[in-house]
Amino acid sequence: MANQDDNLLKKIISHAKEYGFIFPSSEIYDGLAAAYDYGQNGVELKNNIKSFWWKAMVQMNENIVGIDASIFMHPTTWKASGHVDAFNDPLIDNKDSKKRYRADVLVEEYIAKIEGKIDKEVDKAAKRFGDSFDKDQYLATNPRVMGYAEEIASINKRMKEAIEQENLAEVKKLIEDLGIVDPVSGSKNWTDVRQFNLMFSTELGSVADGASKIYLRPETAQGIFVNFLNVQKSGRMKIPFGIAQIGKAFRNEIIARQFIFRMREFEQMEMQFFVKPGDEMEWYEHWKNKRIQWHKTLGLGEDNYRFHDHLNLAHYANAACDIEFNFPMGFKELEGIHSRTDFDLKAHEEHSGKKLQFFDPQENKSYVPYVVETSIGLDRMFLAVMTSAYKEEVLEDGSERTLLKLPAALAPTKVAVFPLVKKDGLPEKAHEIIDLLKLDFSCQYDEKDAVGKRYRRQDAVGTPYCVTVDHQTLEDNTVTIRDRDTMQQERIDITQLHSRVADLVSLSRLLKQL
Ligand code: GAP
Repeated sequence: MANQDDNLLKKIISHAKEYGFIFPSSEIYDGLAAAYDYGQNGVELKNNIKSFWWKAMVQMNENIVGIDASIFMHPTTWKASGHVDAFNDPLIDNKDSKKRYRADVLVEEYIAKIEGKIDKEVDKAAKRFGDSFDKDQYLATNPRVMGYAEEIASINKRMKEAIEQENLAEVKKLIEDLGIVDPVSGSKNWTDVRQFNLMFSTELGSVADGASKIYLRPETAQGIFVNFLNVQKSGRMKIPFGIAQIGKAFRNEIIARQFIFRMREFEQMEMQFFVKPGDEMEWYEHWKNKRIQWHKTLGLGEDNYRFHDHLNLAHYANAACDIEFNFPMGFKELEGIHSRTDFDLKAHEEHSGKKLQFFDPQENKSYVPYVVETSIGLDRMFLAVMTSAYKEEVLEDGSERTLLKLPAALAPTKVAVFPLVKKDGLPEKAHEIIDLLKLDFSCQYDEKDAVGKRYRRQDAVGTPYCVTVDHQTLEDNTVTIRDRDTMQQERIDITQLHSRVADLVSLSRLLKQL
């Protein structure tokens, strides 16, 4: 069942701020729309997600290597990639509210309302029929639901044709025909629809006159394409092989909202896999399976993922799908897997005049490889992890706790160490334990307040294990270790602590399951 919980998103936003995960950017100046800063816990969680992705893609695959290309690239890159001419959103303004919207999103939201009606009908029928309810049969036979589905199909068809033919007047007409009103003013007083390029531009050089216009990259992928031959030759890579990269990307999104879901500055984790032409569909299926396995290994809930095949393929793709996650706003794109043919390398060959080909010794010929790409937004992955981890629990004694049930390997702090009291040599012993663990694990020392309160603070930031040093520790060298999720405590010898924690929080435990 899809989340549709504005409240959950609000709770995550305020929890993320209160506990040092994410702050609004430049907040002392009232913030900057759709820009966020990762705080002391956020940066650790983000780095751990990066590390899991990097190890799964680069370290675990002999034929994948990583790069870190610069954000600024030669401006012709973006001409070749099609971003200068075609990386546009269709925009429409409401004349009364003066608010600007993406025309396609207005239509999508209209469709989402119809989908909501279908969901309601299904829920009602499921209650009415109980165990004998067959959802697929109901969807295929109920006249009202079928009517809604037909309405959706006809809107999608009109929109697809209008966009493909770049018929912006028809997009406006569709909005008018559907009677879509501005959510702010309630008015239907719309401007014409026009295209708006999403790339941020700036000038290279100090004097504006002699400067040339360059762009902040809107995707990291192009840094990989232009380095294809550098990496292939210097690494003596043989097809099939992949190049992976994690880095910032920038898009001047008109509706940047829903927290870190849609930002103007964000991070991508992308991998381009270069294959022999004709083999691309096999590799496309391979990477679909590999990527969904990566997600499922994290244990965020298998039902929270689904594939969404692209029906409207970009002109350069011969297959594409999204991995969608059940965010608080419902199922939305988290990752894209695209079979991009030889479009990008060929376009860079044409614009640069340089050959970007691979000599295949088995075939005894050179060719431009085809590319299968996996592209995931790091910030969206962060939101997915927070969405699944955020829990409010009522305990047996009636008290409440808010916790982040983060996968242990991703948690910002792995072990918190508490002296029961601030005297009798217990703080010194607690610091000794931290010294024992901190080479391998991020640890936190906390001696303030009662132990119960300290547990709650660590629950709220997702620390999987809390170790308490008490007077018995001084006698027999044992401590209690408390599990975040079960809240069970166990007494163990300090000498066992390192291996116990390592076993529980290590990334390799996850990597082994891939
Ligand atoms: N190289 C392919 C590419 O960039 P995309 O579908 O435009 O494809 C890939 O973007 C991923 O980047 C998306 O699935 C999403 O997770 C993330 N992403 C895209 N735009 C974003 C934005 N404005 N804010 C946050 N993440 C974004």
